[in-house]
Amino acid sequence: MTASALPLSDRTIVVGVSDCLAAHKAPELVRLLVQAGARVHVVMTEAAQQFVTSLTLQTVSGHPVATELCDRSQAAPDSALGHCALPHRADLFLVAPATADLLARLSLGLANDLLSTLALACGAPLLVAPTVNVHMWAHPAVQEHVERLRARGAHVCGPESVERASGWLDPGRMSEPSAIVAQVAALLRRSTPLAGYKLLISAGPTFEAIDPVRFIGNRSSGKMGFALAAEAARRGAQVILAAGPVALPTPQGVTRIDYESAAQLAEIVLAAQQRGDLDGIVMTAAVADFTPTQPATQKIKKRAQGERMSIELAPTLDILAELGQRRGTERRPLLVGFAAETQNVLAYAKDKLARKRCDVIIANDVSESGSGFGAEHNRVTIVQRPSIQGGDPQVEALPLLPKTEVAAALWDRLTPALSALKSPVAAHEK
Ligand code: PMT
Repeated sequence: MTASALPLSDRTIVVGVSDCLAAHKAPELVRLLVQAGARVHVVMTEAAQQFVTSLTLQTVSGHPVATELCDRSQAAPDSALGHCALPHRADLFLVAPATADLLARLSLGLANDLLSTLALACGAPLLVAPTVNVHMWAHPAVQEHVERLRARGAHVCGPESVERASGWLDPGRMSEPSAIVAQVAALLRRSTPLAGYKLLISAGPTFEAIDPVRFIGNRSSGKMGFALAAEAARRGAQVILAAGPVALPTPQGVTRIDYESAAQLAEIVLAAQQRGDLDGIVMTAAVADFTPTQPATQKIKKRAQGERMSIELAPTLDILAELGQRRGTERRPLLVGFAAETQNVLAYAKDKLARKRCDVIIANDVSESGSGFGAEHNRVTIVQRPSIQGGDPQVEALPLLPKTEVAAALWDRLTPALSALKSPVAAHEK
């Protein structure tokens, strides 16, 4: 098996070890995770060191083990608490074993040691492998904490049943390391449905120069496109973000190429399509339809009072339509456009879908306050090309949602269309 074929290649997992007898299984767990290709960083409660040494875990993980909230030896140059940098790199936060005490602290959001602090700070999914006394596991308090964690999206592995003298099987023992690693692999597979896809997303306005200091622009903030890029990267895609003149930080794991004008954006997008390795292009950018034919090289001076001036505009290239035209009968890359409309949203979206020869149009009614340009939220209607020639486009209207949630919902809908492009049918159906 090559390194990249290992089930956990390039994954970073923080393993939290709490203080109980099952901590003696932690070295085997870490060894299996490393063997599966993961980068493993171990964090222990102080008392866990009575059951397993940090040196053992450092040896099997290949990284220093963190135990104290203020461990200066671990401090990164840019951080007073060096290990607080760890969770931002993590794909999963795994707590194994998780005692009843730790389950309670995680559920309540307490941060009274390094492990619980990092669990709070970490944006990665949480997987806990409880180990508890059978009576404690049945206790409503423990069950409430576990349910609360589940309700927040945490995953629970085990506990396994322990055979009693009475013959009853009572849950309590931590799952075997191999079972935990299998669940880790399944979880990470599920959380990266876009792994292996290369996507280009455009975001933001275009600025069309009138002179060196003035331009024709629009109210796009880039938030919708940046949210799509961040979510696609989080789901494992390789993302190129063509970013217009906006004041937004580059999402983690995304390659950013800045543009200013419609012509620059066209150059970036068409060159990327030409390279032939893109699986999808999403045009969220609000592209100018017209540009000044002859921008002045010097600042245009004020005219005499009342004297008018005019600027001649020429149409810009319709990039999305050009992409559709160049793709011809090919199905790859998937072409997704956005449509900003103030009236007849659905009718105009359907028209754009056909005219620009793309696969999906995401229509937004930009006249609704609190939605569309510059807003934190968006209300979109997804209009997909009919699966049968001559059929009607499939239409789905989503409620008003934060743009981050719109992005998640859109990738949920677009992923099947992307994976269809990689199916054998897509490869031969040309
Ligand atoms: O950036 P935000 O503040 O978060 O706002 C998001 C948004 C409202 C800008 C976004 O959701 C949106 O609707 N983007 C598309 C806006 C737009 O230009 O729509 P359009 O109907 O003019 O164009 C339709 C499609 O053709 C778009 O995908 C556009 O990128 C593309 N187009 C348009 C003109 C042109 N010359 N070339 C193009 O490729």
